[in-house]
Amino acid sequence: MRRPVIAGNWKMHKTRAETREFFDAFKPLISNINHCEIIVAPPFTSLSVAADSARGSSVRIAAQDMHWEREGAFTGAISAAMIVDAGCRAVILGHSERRRYFGETDATVNRKLKAALAAKLQPIVCVGETLDEREAGRTERVLESQFIGASDTLTPEEFSRILLAYEPVWAIGTGRTATPETASESHAYLRRLAEQSFGEESASGLRILYGGSVRPDNIASLMAQREIDGALVGGASLDPQTFFSILNFKQRSS
Ligand code: PGA
Repeated sequence: MRRPVIAGNWKMHKTRAETREFFDAFKPLISNINHCEIIVAPPFTSLSVAADSARGSSVRIAAQDMHWEREGAFTGAISAAMIVDAGCRAVILGHSERRRYFGETDATVNRKLKAALAAKLQPIVCVGETLDEREAGRTERVLESQFIGASDTLTPEEFSRILLAYEPVWAIGTGRTATPETASESHAYLRRLAEQSFGEESASGLRILYGGSVRPDNIASLMAQREIDGALVGGASLDPQTFFSILNFKQRSS
């Protein structure tokens, strides 16, 4: 049984005070949640406040990106050691917004992935096709090159520590969620790629999260798919009550 993971990606939202307010409201809500792992990814400036605020709960804090070098002359960059020092246990890598606006490539995702694993962080590696790529029938080719490009230098042991997030770009922030069946097909394809590269055992243990306009009213149908092991939630993770309603999918679907 793969344990579900629900992760919130706050993107460029929330000051330190707003981060504290979120956790003050969120922690009591989740005190009885134990059917899934919970991750919250605030912006860099709020990481240590989030880690302090989450203490005593099951929430793990993630960064939204990192640099692959430990330190050096890289103006504006933050290293794995720095985010670990700020209280992070995980890191999102290769998000489509990083690829689209900040020049992230499969090669840089791969370097970051190695550095994150060396720092004992859990990477959440994002892959996903654009609308043009889907309409041109290129979804599988895009997923394959992103998956292989990010992961091909990993050992099976390293691979067993990552989470994969399938985030079709056309579904992010658009309100246009992939149907559970469409998402599930891509997840199954990614699992086949994992099996080819790392073997059956690694592939069947791999947790693949779906991301793209996940909301309280669609999480249960997504999580009902055998191939979907969790969600990476953007906009709907900013409000404690809404994010809690998503985490609570199990209660609502039963
Ligand atoms: P969204 O973002 O839930 O706001 O669509 C998801 C993501 O980018 O991780």
